[in-house]
Amino acid sequence: MAVLFSPFSLRDVTFKNRIAVSPMSQYRAVDGHANDWHRVHLGRFALGGAGLVYAEATGVEAAGRRTHGDLGLWTDAQIEGLRPIADFINREGSVPGIQLGHAGRKASERRPWHGETPVDDEDVAERGEAPWQAIAPSPLPYAEGWPEPVEVSEDDIARVIDAFGVAAKRAKEAGFKIIEIYAAHGFLVHQFLSPISNKRSDKWGGSAENRRRFALEVAKSVRANWPEAYPLAFRLSATDWLDGGIDVEETIETARALKAEGVDMIDCSTGGIGGKQRPHRMKIEQGFQVPFAAEIREKADIATMAVGFLWDAKHCEELLVAENADMIALAREILDDPNWPLHAAQELSADEGHAMWPVESGWWLMKRERLLSKLGIR
Ligand SMILES: Cc1cc2nc3c(=O)[nH]c(=O)nc-3n(C[C@H](O)[C@H](O)[C@H](O)COP(=O)(O)O)c2cc1C
Repeated sequence: MAVLFSPFSLRDVTFKNRIAVSPMSQYRAVDGHANDWHRVHLGRFALGGAGLVYAEATGVEAAGRRTHGDLGLWTDAQIEGLRPIADFINREGSVPGIQLGHAGRKASERRPWHGETPVDDEDVAERGEAPWQAIAPSPLPYAEGWPEPVEVSEDDIARVIDAFGVAAKRAKEAGFKIIEIYAAHGFLVHQFLSPISNKRSDKWGGSAENRRRFALEVAKSVRANWPEAYPLAFRLSATDWLDGGIDVEETIETARALKAEGVDMIDCSTGGIGGKQRPHRMKIEQGFQVPFAAEIREKADIATMAVGFLWDAKHCEELLVAENADMIALAREILDDPNWPLHAAQELSADEGHAMWPVESGWWLMKRERLLSKLGIR
C-alpha cells in the first residue's frame, strides 16, 4: 500500500490518507459569511478523495481580514454558513479543517485580480468597498506604497489573542475537526515572529523568545477553547529568505515551543513577510520547501506537512517514504484537478476497480474500464 494512501492520526482524528487541500482564499465571502460558492469549492475536494480539506484563511476579527471577500468567524452568525460545509466534508469521509488568521499590516488589500494593492477610494467608487485601518507589531508598512499600520497596544494584543480562542470555539460549533493557525506569509502572527516586521522593545519583541510569545499565546488561547481530542496545526514560514529575517534554526525552536503548547503539526511554507528588501533568489522547483518540512520534523520531533509546488504522485509518495513529512498539501494542482487524490491512487496502483471513488461515479467508471479493456480499446 502506498504511504500516500495510508491513514494518519493526530490526537483522536484520523485522516484516511496523507493528502490535504491547502487553505485557498476565494474572496467570495460577503461580510465574512460563507455561501454556496465555498460549499461547492470545498465539497468537490471531499468528493475528490482528499483526506483533509482546509477552508481558507478566516479572519478572527473584521479588521483581521485581508480583503473584503475573506471568510470570518468573528461573530456567532458566521457559524451557520460554515456548518453545512464541515458536515458535508465529514460525511464524505474527509476531515474538515479551517485556517484561522489575522492579516495585521496586510489587511485592507485588494483581491489578487484587483491588483493585490491597498484598498482605496477607487474601490469605494467601483465596488462600495472602503479601506480600513490595519494593525501590526510595529508601524512599518508591508511594502512601498502601503499605508502605515497602527502599532498594537497591550489591549489590542490581548483582544486579538482572545479573538483566536473565541473563533476556535466557533470553529468547533461549525463542525471542523482540525484548526490551522495562519502564522506564515506575512500575516499578523508571522509579523510578530519576524525581526523584519517586529521592532518592538517590550516583551513582544527583540529576542526570538519575545517575538514568539504572541504565537505561543495564540496557541494557548486556541487550545483552551478547542477539544483535547482535536488536533491543532500551525502554518509557519520556515524562512523569510531575507538577511536578518527568520531562518530554519529559529523556526525549529518555534516548532518545539509550539509543541509544548499542544500544537500537533507544522505546515511548512516560506516567505511573504514583505518589507523593503528583495528576497534572496530562491530556486523554485518541484517540492522546493520539502527540506524545511524534513528538518523541522526531525529536529523539533513534530509532525509536518509539506507544501508548495507539489503535483507528481510518485514524487509525493517518495517524500513520504523518506519520512520528510507526514502529510502533503496541494493548492494549485488540486484546483486544476479536484480528483487528484483519486487519480494519484490509480497511478500508484492503490485503488483497484475505482473502489476509492464515491460509488455514484466509481461504479460507472469501473464498468467502463472493464468494457474498454474487453474491447481492447485501452
Ligand atoms: C487561490 C489561492 C489562495 C490561497 N490562499 C491561501 C490562504 O488562504 N492561506 C494560506 O495559508 N495560503 C494560501 N495560499 C497558498 C497555498 O495554500 C499554498 O501554500 C501555495 O499555493 C503553494 O502550494 P501550490 O504550489 O500547491 O499551489 C493560496 C494559494 C492559492 C493558489
